[in-house]
Amino acid sequence: MAKVKVLTIFGTRPEAIKMAPLVKEIEKNSDKLESIVCVTAQHREMLDQVLELFNIKPDFDLNIMKENQNLWSLTSDVLLKTKDVIEKVLPDVVLVHGDTTTSMAAALSAFYAKIPVGHVEAGLRTFDKYYPFPEEINRVFTDSVCTYHFAPTDKSCENLIKSQIPKENIYKTGNTVIDALLYTVKNHPSNVEGLNLNPNLKTILLTSHRRENFGEPIRNICKAVLKLVENNKDIEFVYPVHPNPNVQKPVYELLENKERIHLIKPLEYAQFCSLMKKAHIILTDSGGVQEEAPSLGKPVLVLRDTTERPEAVDFGTVKLVGTDINKIISTVQLLLNDINEYKKMSEAINPYGDGLASKRIVEVLRKIN
Ligand code: UD1
Ligand code: UDP
Repeated sequence: MAKVKVLTIFGTRPEAIKMAPLVKEIEKNSDKLESIVCVTAQHREMLDQVLELFNIKPDFDLNIMKENQNLWSLTSDVLLKTKDVIEKVLPDVVLVHGDTTTSMAAALSAFYAKIPVGHVEAGLRTFDKYYPFPEEINRVFTDSVCTYHFAPTDKSCENLIKSQIPKENIYKTGNTVIDALLYTVKNHPSNVEGLNLNPNLKTILLTSHRRENFGEPIRNICKAVLKLVENNKDIEFVYPVHPNPNVQKPVYELLENKERIHLIKPLEYAQFCSLMKKAHIILTDSGGVQEEAPSLGKPVLVLRDTTERPEAVDFGTVKLVGTDINKIISTVQLLLNDINEYKKMSEAINPYGDGLASKRIVEVLRKIN
């Protein structure tokens, strides 16, 4: 019997991290599945770091990233360039991930070719179309053109049902990010040597890149960091700064060459996992980090007002703090001063997966055709 041709399309760092274990699992099932990988390279260096770690050699590399790219040209580049790939490969199914412009435009491209699409990490919602922007609409749109919905949690399944997605097309799988995390920690042990951290200080890890935080909010985050290091001589911040110029500019302007603040380049995933493990507290507006850190037992303060990942908030290991300077300072200070508050937030939990999400998705793919 002919194999099921699976064309996996992704383009940014988080999609690559979360699709890598799935690509590997599809490859392991070569008796029934044929794996073809297309990267849009919406991200370049940050994507290549992940491809190298997981030893994935794409069959197609669309190489679309431009300096400070905009949503319009990004969308049209993905749409037009994936058209050629889809027409050449003629896959039985296209897989996309999450909520980026690559995911949304690649899903549309496959839909135009009448190829069924599987959405990995389906069903996440804030129900606020501008937060996060443009990701909330990318998710809703992608879910609406997809045939197979691989939802990580009960909550994401419920969201899909509310969006009129037929129940028989929804598969609760867990999030492949936990597959990636467990695989990486086990097979690529790394350490934070080389980052010049002071072993006598508490490390606070910070990441921030959301479009809705550009401008004043990101400046407020930086000002809160300055105040916190001034008030607490026993802490240091490590901030792998996202290469987006809208992030780089304000962050380097406000935080460069300040005592106990380390601005560093984005870390390759294995080393970033070690840094999360070493961190005392994590401040982030990242989606992926919100999912990974609770399983490492790290308190996470989310620099946003809403989240599509409410599970760890409900459990108490993640708190939404937004971007108000005083709120950030007082919440971090509470965790630094009050051991009971810290303990409450640092219990390891795994609401997002058990490391077997890719296997569950592959079980579904094997039954196509
Ligand atoms: C994108 C996604 C966002 C996701 C984030 C993960 C969209 C609209 N946004 O946002 O959902 O959470 O990735 O990080 O899909 N750049 C580099 N090198 C890289 C990557 C980026 O130089 O490896 C710079 C480029 O100047 C690029 C800019 O960052 O133009 C912005 O990249 P883009 O993918 O458009 O937006 P992100 O903010 O990364
Ligand atoms: N990450 C990484 N190196 C870094 C910062 C983050 O490998 O320097 C990983 C992190 O562990 C998570 C993913 O990148 O798996 C999150 O990516 P990002 O925050 O860019 O995107 P989001 O998840 O918000 O879409």
